Amino acid sequence: MMKDRFASRVDMLSPSPIRKMMAIAKELVAEGKTVYELNIGQPDIECIPEFAKAINKKASTGQINYSPYIGEKYLRETYARYLNHYFDRRSVSHLVVDTENILVTVGASHALSNTFLAICNPGDEVLVIEPFFSPYIGYLALAGAVLKSVPTYAENHFALPSDEEIKRHITPKTRAIMFNSPNNPSGKIYSHEEVERLARIALDHDLYIIGDEVYREMILGDQEAVSLLQINFSREEDNEKFKDLLIVIDSASKSFSLCGVRIGFVVSKQSILEKIALVNAHSVACVSDLLQFGVAGAYDAVLSQPDYLEKLRQTYRERLEAAMKAIADFLPEVVAPRPSGAFYLMIKFPQFEDINEFCYFMLEKFNVGGETVAVTPAHAFYLDPRRGRNEIRIALVVTPEKIRKSIRIMAEALKAYRVFKGNQTRPCL
Ligand SMILES: Cc1ncc(COP(=O)(O)O)c(C=O)c1O
Repeated sequence: MMKDRFASRVDMLSPSPIRKMMAIAKELVAEGKTVYELNIGQPDIECIPEFAKAINKKASTGQINYSPYIGEKYLRETYARYLNHYFDRRSVSHLVVDTENILVTVGASHALSNTFLAICNPGDEVLVIEPFFSPYIGYLALAGAVLKSVPTYAENHFALPSDEEIKRHITPKTRAIMFNSPNNPSGKIYSHEEVERLARIALDHDLYIIGDEVYREMILGDQEAVSLLQINFSREEDNEKFKDLLIVIDSASKSFSLCGVRIGFVVSKQSILEKIALVNAHSVACVSDLLQFGVAGAYDAVLSQPDYLEKLRQTYRERLEAAMKAIADFLPEVVAPRPSGAFYLMIKFPQFEDINEFCYFMLEKFNVGGETVAVTPAHAFYLDPRRGRNEIRIALVVTPEKIRKSIRIMAEALKAYRVFKGNQTRPCL
């Protein structure tokens, strides 16, 4: 018998449902259809012009080189300055980060997968608050580690469970606790008390605590996101110990509309970063120096334009309002909790048992004047296969007008789907 030609680790990986939808949408667009792509968190907002200026400036030197595997010093310095200013402007007390606390990666995706490769042994477990960004499962699988979910529920505003409930999931194999705030997909922002509780549990059990903060700046209401860098225990020795456990993940993709440049960051203690940087060195060698200069230009520009982020937030707030209004007008039967941050909306269709088929029906078989909508079935964001089956996630990544149009198309598609299902159950000749 022929030996299996692939490593068993690839059996642990499956295509992301978000990407599956994206591939179909791209094909339809190539055929001339209009697809409102609410399925992927890729903002349509133009990136800051200083990005292109910095790229051009660097390219014109004619020197496009390898950079250090920890990242270009210029970007690490600029990003550290940006992060400190971000908290200082809000008068928030925080750990001061220095250049040595920053590692540059190929997006937050690479930051996460390299972190898991650096801290997990095969069989190790990482506790992740559910719902969660579905690719976490694959990043962990590559490291031979396993995601263990700690469920939270929309009915309870995705509140963090009690300490006892969280601790119940800790085993001798647990290596880290991870959470994402503001959360993709729920839009939940963890309160100071909740972040501190997670930090305390990590500290007491000597576990890494990983905060995925890629949506830190994306605030839709009054509540700011609390960073792990803001945690301050009353005992100094706890704070010192905590620094050996704390890992923050960040990215230029979302707040700076730079998804395609693939630049992310790990913020942590130098001794931790040096290990993760070794994984960088042995996977991609280093991140593109051209793009690092471009991103440094963008962060530098935002530092001197304090209203940049406020304008961005306003843009997403208008989109959210358009979505909530359109839902009330066209989909009165659904449940759509208002998100506090990030730029997604979870919509529950109580009449469905499984919404997956409807999502594909709408994209592939339905259109209004050549226009249709791509959304993400939300089961991908839960580990428990019974959860999220009647929910979708939409990303607020198009204009308010297009969001309203998309939701109207969704309502029309629902009517057509009911007819389609009705016809399917009729006896055939
Ligand atoms: C919660 C979360 N973490 C990480 C990522 C990955 O971001 P990046 O584009 O920097 O790889 C995403 C992307 O959507 C995300 O939503």
